[in-house]
Amino acid sequence: MNKQEYHFSFEVHDSIKDLSEEDAWLLNEAREVTQHAYAPYSNFQVGAIARLENGELVAGSNQENASFPVGLCAERVLLASASSLFPKVPINTVAISYHNNNGESNHPISPCGICRQSLVEYQERVSQPIRLILGGMEGKVYIIDNASMLLPLSFNSSDLH
Ligand code: THU
Repeated sequence: MNKQEYHFSFEVHDSIKDLSEEDAWLLNEAREVTQHAYAPYSNFQVGAIARLENGELVAGSNQENASFPVGLCAERVLLASASSLFPKVPINTVAISYHNNNGESNHPISPCGICRQSLVEYQERVSQPIRLILGGMEGKVYIIDNASMLLPLSFNSSDLH
């Protein structure tokens, strides 16, 4: 028997003011995109925006449905749009923010399990890691250099071979 360790490190910034101009701009855009969410059931509006390797921007917001499981997270809406509009173009950075109409929006949230799986497959497809900027409407901001860090021992396409 041997024990393996998994090491995960990420940047913690006290506020958006500590980010580079480029990152701060993207996080502000994600905050704006929360307004496009359709979240009448949870009242939890999530906004995501990607800067692609070709300089294009693609946004996504959560889209809910009266049949609850039909709803989509902002991250997967974004990935589907990016893949459709700019197939095979790597995503450099995704900023994710949220507005919780039932409470506070002052700490980072990170992608749910299904979205982690989707992010990891996307970056594998285009052979480039996705960098994540996570922050609420205010408060601390996390930066994660590679989305796969959020999904150790992930199941992936090579397992199907
Ligand atoms: N949601 C996202 O859009 N992204 C996440 O990473 C977490 C959750 C959405 C799903 C649902 O519409 C609402 O937030 C509450 O869970």
